[in-house]
Amino acid sequence: MANSANDRAGPGAGESGATETFNMSFTLNGAPVSRRVPLDARLLDVLRYDCACPGTKEGCGEGECGACSVILDGLLVNSCLVPAFQAAGRVVTTVESVAADVASALNVTGTSQCGACTPGIVMSIRWLLERPEIASNVDLREFLSGNLCRCTGYDGVVAGAEAALTLRGIPMRGVARPGPGDRGGSRP
Ligand code: FES
Ligand code: FES
Repeated sequence: MANSANDRAGPGAGESGATETFNMSFTLNGAPVSRRVPLDARLLDVLRYDCACPGTKEGCGEGECGACSVILDGLLVNSCLVPAFQAAGRVVTTVESVAADVASALNVTGTSQCGACTPGIVMSIRWLLERPEIASNVDLREFLSGNLCRCTGYDGVVAGAEAALTLRGIPMRGVARPGPGDRGGSRP
């Protein structure tokens, strides 16, 4: 497994085998960072291996599971699909930024079992917490449909989201539909 920009040699490697790199500056969890990374690096790898933010997980690696979710300039994105250079000069927020009280609210409701999906789900909920108007009216199961969880059946995940919204004083008017146990699926 690649551990740093110097270890990774992908399609950006030149004829000599050396990987072309560029200097990338951006804001990460409120602090300015600058890293020299491969030209073809994914944002996911830069966060994990170059910026000491291993909380962002890789599940499918192809945009299907949401485990790698981060917030990029206010947008919830799958970092496995984002070329790192697209984050240059922008603001990136990862699961390491989640407030302790929100993490506690999520933790006591069975939100997580194996934990593979958890950072992505936490980031989806974090995005929602910053948008009370949307949070108040959204169907949480539908909202979380971009985060694949094979363990929980989503009841704990939705309960965790509700606990976090309540913690922030956000009223819930959205409808929580029946869980996948009623439909036989692994999506909400
Ligand atoms: S690892 Fe990025 S969406 Fe699955
Ligand atoms: S807790 Fe295991 S995939 Fe969600």
